[in-house]
Amino acid sequence: MSIKKNHPVDRTHQLPDNGMLPLFFVTLIAAALGACGSTKTEAQDTKPVATAGRPAPASFDEQIQSNARRMLEEGKRTFRFDTFGSEDFWGGKLRLHEALAGEKLGGVGQGVSPRTALALGLKVDAEALPTELVAQIKAGTVDLDDPATTASLLKLNAVVGVTGIFSSDGKLGSIGIQCAICHSTVDDSFAPGIGRRLDGWGNRDLNIGAIVATAPNLQPFSDLLGVDVATVKAVLNSWGPGRYDAELNMDGKAKRPDGKSAATLMPSAFGLAGVNQHTWTGGWGTVTYWNAYVANTQMYGKGTFLDSRLEDAKQYPVAAKAGWGHLRNATDLITAKLPALHFYQLAMPRPKAPQGSYDAEAARRGQVYFNGNAKCSTCHVPPIFTEPGYNLHSANELGIDSFQADRGPERRYVTTPLRALFDTQKIHKGGFYHDGRFATLEDVIDHYDRFLKLGLSDTQKKDLIQYLKSI
Ligand code: HEC
Ligand code: HEC
Repeated sequence: MSIKKNHPVDRTHQLPDNGMLPLFFVTLIAAALGACGSTKTEAQDTKPVATAGRPAPASFDEQIQSNARRMLEEGKRTFRFDTFGSEDFWGGKLRLHEALAGEKLGGVGQGVSPRTALALGLKVDAEALPTELVAQIKAGTVDLDDPATTASLLKLNAVVGVTGIFSSDGKLGSIGIQCAICHSTVDDSFAPGIGRRLDGWGNRDLNIGAIVATAPNLQPFSDLLGVDVATVKAVLNSWGPGRYDAELNMDGKAKRPDGKSAATLMPSAFGLAGVNQHTWTGGWGTVTYWNAYVANTQMYGKGTFLDSRLEDAKQYPVAAKAGWGHLRNATDLITAKLPALHFYQLAMPRPKAPQGSYDAEAARRGQVYFNGNAKCSTCHVPPIFTEPGYNLHSANELGIDSFQADRGPERRYVTTPLRALFDTQKIHKGGFYHDGRFATLEDVIDHYDRFLKLGLSDTQKKDLIQYLKSI
């Protein structure tokens, strides 16, 4: 340290972008000198270290620490509050805010009251509510059937994942959306749908399709997909709660071959550190790939997105036509936010199974089957519960149809990192696997038992479930 004080850095010699590099070397040199006890070397003279009067630069260790804190905070802000300029689409083009506001407030239709908003699965952040309002809600003096109350909640930034943009006269002029709309819920500590934020928990109540279907102008989707507005509406309304189709505007496939909606369940975005490929089908890339994909192509934010695979008109006819694979907005409101957003997501832990939510004794027996004759750990490797390495499988290896897999670039399914399987009220509401085809863990295990010819006894299956619930 004394070396740094004696040999000041001339900061004018540092480029703003790579300022860390010289500092890093200086720190290394300082450390090396400190360790070997020598005093002055040529390196010190050619790389002077700090300007007189300036505080000594932080060690690289300290820089890492403060960078981690900054990334976490920045990423959280982005995840919760950044619309990426998407208001120009949701408000500007679709005029969704008009449907939210309703006719009385200068919009169209009945408007969306807080009661309706909650029924559609939107969540309210109780911590954003001022104490007087909390008291009024408790006293029952707030009109939960009035769309004006929804507008007030938006003004308070209390609707999770939705930002209202108000004009100077207080009118709702537009709305934008955030990651949190689909990937956060609340703990219901105040009332159902109102509570503290739970970032990363897939919102399995949110009927995003029904919400978007109320927009006065669905022509942009109609143009994009090459179908009429009535069809767009029908497709949006076919998704249902907790589901969204993140590939529809790439391949135009609204239905599976069996006629059911092609939408998938909203996955949770926690517990993904150490996990290679993401999303149900994988093949797209890592978390940060997907963040860029979603922010640009699903949220309709303004940024840059490059993926030449989307120029394949056979697999992705809509994307190829729309140019999703080479998207460059004049203003990029996304790319600079990707590093911290990635960091924040990786920091989200897997919620732990509460004590008493499973039978620990049975779980211990189940763990043995999981890692043994039930073959689960051949793919779900503890403690990340997916393959450390290449974590994709063909539909044939799983004994299911390939419809959703075929929509991904590698035509495979990701070995879902098993997370929080104890919770079927929120996290796994709507079932298991990408489309919720298995309603319960019993159904999942029966499927593996049949398909992999495991020959598990009923007790073994029960024990296995207790272990799954403990994960
Ligand atoms: C409209 C709802 C919606 C929004 C908004 C949204 N996502 Fe997602 N997200 C989904 C769905 C649905 C999937 C699954 C897609 C698939 O597998 O095809 C997904 C997948 C993911 C995954 C992979 C999860 C896993 O288990 O592999 C991550 C990570 C993720 N989203 C993060 C984000 C971030 C960050 C944002 C904001 C930039 C965002 N999402 C915005 C619906 C949404
Ligand atoms: C061949 C690899 C493989 C094996 C073996 C395997 N799984 Fe899976 N598992 C997967 C894949 C891939 C998925 C995702 C399927 C989908 O989303 O459609 C999955 C999904 C799951 C899910 C649903 C997770 C969720 O969030 O919806 C559970 C639960 C599960 N597996 C448990 C097990 C158990 C228990 C065993 C052993 C009996 C097992 N798996 C064996 C690959 C495997």
